[in-house]
Amino acid sequence: MSRIHDALKRAEQERATSTGTHVEPAYDQPPFQQDAQGEAMPLLQTPMASAGNGGMPNTASGLNMGSALNYEALVARCPQSAWSPDQKTMLFFEQDDSRLGAEEFRTLRSRLYQIREKMPLKRLLVTSALPKEGKTFVSANLAQVLVRQHGRRALLIDADLRNPGLHRHLGATQSPGLSDYLLGEIDEFAGLQRGAMENLFFLPAGKSVASAPELLANGRLKLFLQRVEPLFDWIIIDSSPVIPVSDATLVAGACDGILMVVRSAVTPSDLALRAREEFPDKLLLGVVLNGAPSDKSQRSKYYYGEAVSSPA
Ligand SMILES: Nc1ncnc2c1ncn2[C@@H]1O[C@H](COP(=O)(O)OP(=O)(O)O)[C@@H](O)[C@H]1O
Ligand SMILES: [Mg+2]
Repeated sequence: MSRIHDALKRAEQERATSTGTHVEPAYDQPPFQQDAQGEAMPLLQTPMASAGNGGMPNTASGLNMGSALNYEALVARCPQSAWSPDQKTMLFFEQDDSRLGAEEFRTLRSRLYQIREKMPLKRLLVTSALPKEGKTFVSANLAQVLVRQHGRRALLIDADLRNPGLHRHLGATQSPGLSDYLLGEIDEFAGLQRGAMENLFFLPAGKSVASAPELLANGRLKLFLQRVEPLFDWIIIDSSPVIPVSDATLVAGACDGILMVVRSAVTPSDLALRAREEFPDKLLLGVVLNGAPSDKSQRSKYYYGEAVSSPA
């Protein structure tokens, strides 16, 4: 039985505890298997935010390969925008490193670097079964914590073309962005923004479109990622929920790995399992249990338990 199975089982138990319902042994028959290499996947956990080593950094010598721009030219082309990040949920724009949830994102970063020692990993899809589970919250804070390490560069992409949210969290503009590029109306650099946080770039969703799946499947997303990839250490892609629409599975085909967000005490386990089955085992990196209790005694059993250890 894999750790992702155990992780979701625990999430379900938490949900049942908090709602006072009986826990059905829904996971006992099926569903989460170990991946092709027999490796289990880790659980990372984030608490509710309140108001209150692997790969090397991208270096100048690596920037020109396969891209029309090098990093310095990109910075010059992309003037700094005046973002106004949501102070309640964007954890790393201030210098305060002790925000509730910040440590969990540092742990998530470490886990990703551990995984990256074993497989190529740069394009990371963040998805979940349902809306409002925290995909956008996790994507945005993960990208921030990645660039908090000196010299690391990250591109954050809003690929939720139906209900884009990253621009709101960042206090940025929605367009031009990904949809405009996929429509062939702008080049790959025209939609990129950067705010005050060094080395963090953002491609918003772009203008509203009626044809999200067709656009995401038209081949230009892969082309975009190929062009910009040499400029960044990480590309974090926020997406639509998996159960209602197919968009995230289309984006997954262009990614190296997938993080599944499960909202603690909210996500029904059967839907989390169905969502997980949409993706090939080899792409699934692990589960982020979002909004978990911030009580330390509860958290420690996850942090030091089997579920958070990195794949063997
Ligand atoms: N761990 C968290 N702490 C505080 N607020 C959160 C947390 N996770 C999500 N939220 C909030 O819950 C709402 C839904 O989250 P969001 O990331 O937009 O979900 P999704 O992208 O999955 O639809 C947003 O208002 C977001 O700010
Ligand atoms: Mg979202």
